[in-house]
Amino acid sequence: MSEDKTKAAKALQGVKGMNDMLPADAPLWEMFEDAARSMLRAYGYQQIRTPIVEHTQLFVRGIGEVTDIVEKEMYSFTDALNGENLTLRPEGTAAAVRSTIEHNLLYDGPKRLWYTGPMFRHERPQRGRYRQFHQLGAEALGFAGPDVDAEIILMCQRLWDDLGLVGVRLELNSLGQAHERAAHREELIKYLEGFQDILDEDSKRRLYTNPLRVLDTKNPALQEMAANAPKLIDFLGEESLAHFEGVQRILKANNIPFKINPRLVRGLDYYNLTVFEWITDKLGAQGTIAGGGRYDPLIQQMGGKPAPACGWAMGIERIIELLREEKLQPEAAGCDVYMVHQGEAAALQSMIAAERLRDAGLNVVMHATPDGKSGSFKSQMKRADGSGAAFAVIIGEDETAAGTAQVKQLRSGNAAEGGPQTSVPAGELVEFVIGAMVDAIEAEEELEDDEQ
Ligand code: HAM
Repeated sequence: MSEDKTKAAKALQGVKGMNDMLPADAPLWEMFEDAARSMLRAYGYQQIRTPIVEHTQLFVRGIGEVTDIVEKEMYSFTDALNGENLTLRPEGTAAAVRSTIEHNLLYDGPKRLWYTGPMFRHERPQRGRYRQFHQLGAEALGFAGPDVDAEIILMCQRLWDDLGLVGVRLELNSLGQAHERAAHREELIKYLEGFQDILDEDSKRRLYTNPLRVLDTKNPALQEMAANAPKLIDFLGEESLAHFEGVQRILKANNIPFKINPRLVRGLDYYNLTVFEWITDKLGAQGTIAGGGRYDPLIQQMGGKPAPACGWAMGIERIIELLREEKLQPEAAGCDVYMVHQGEAAALQSMIAAERLRDAGLNVVMHATPDGKSGSFKSQMKRADGSGAAFAVIIGEDETAAGTAQVKQLRSGNAAEGGPQTSVPAGELVEFVIGAMVDAIEAEEELEDDEQ
């Protein structure tokens, strides 16, 4: 293929690192979304939706100029129509804070907010790391006490429990306050300068801009150096330590196991005091399924009245992958009724009957084909069986003439061959189908009781 043709063919494919969610995965995503919504309701969090695009400066100021995200991962562009510098959001906290300030949401007291949606980071794609990925995030704005740090961690644990996820571990650290980090930073730079000859390029670049990140290195040659470096926790004052202990006390009282990881620093600059990550070993290198912490200075830094804040975000793709690993895939929900019909007049009656069944709250699929012809009864019944419906409603020429419909129970073996079938007057169809569904559910429950 010529280079032009290859380019043209590629242009019609999805963008690298950006995935489609296909129907086969929908039950998993919906299971996650349902569990998340009910967990968030249980803690009194309210939803906020912000645009996918924000001014680039919001993220530069919010996330920090010397972070990986701002240095090299943002999808930034100039709006060709008005010259504005814009960016596809790489995370949700900066935008949630922007919106809170812009709409003065804290005027009548603190707020608990949540959001979900696609985020964009130009990273090297691999399992669990994508260029478009989805986050669920929660932000508790205006609360200073360690109780709220603990609350947002308990929320995560509740979600793992509701989803049936086990073996997700919690790592915790405290980054203290700015002046404590400054004192630690000075010592750390002195310490790191002693290792100039073994530092890799990335670490050398960060030595004076973001030395804490040097400790976050994945480079095996630097692990020992990082392990023996001065620890931030030793520089924390009384207040910071009391806050950290407060969080731990509540977690322990609620039987939440955790490990303190003094090297946990996170990749965004806005944090102070508590930071945490939830990690699994089952997803390879990208095992962090959620991360967050306190970011008290951010609201003021972005132009709002000073107000403390903390929150987290989780990577939905990683959680979906973990659910799949753990074989927690729910059954795809089938429809209730499949409409089988033959002939023009019957198709019309079938369409009307389907609308009445939907009025009654049932999920109904009309038989339809690529060529617009309905095909044999036998082939339609095969489709009905494959649809997962509990009943087929069959309307042919005879039924149209007699003003009736046949209702056939499915799932009890092969629909084309057996299963009870009843002729019902068209006017009684809805009532009959609902009655038959209730009977079928009761019979199933009795069977389950007998088995137990
Ligand atoms: P983050 O650690 O950058 O924090 O991202 C949170 C989670 O998003 C990660 O733990 C991971 O599960 C997922 N994630 C990040 N990048 C990718 C990627 N390229 N592909 C797939 N999943 C990914 C934040 O974004 C902060 N805003 C969290 C926060 C909220 N802190 C306070 N409030």
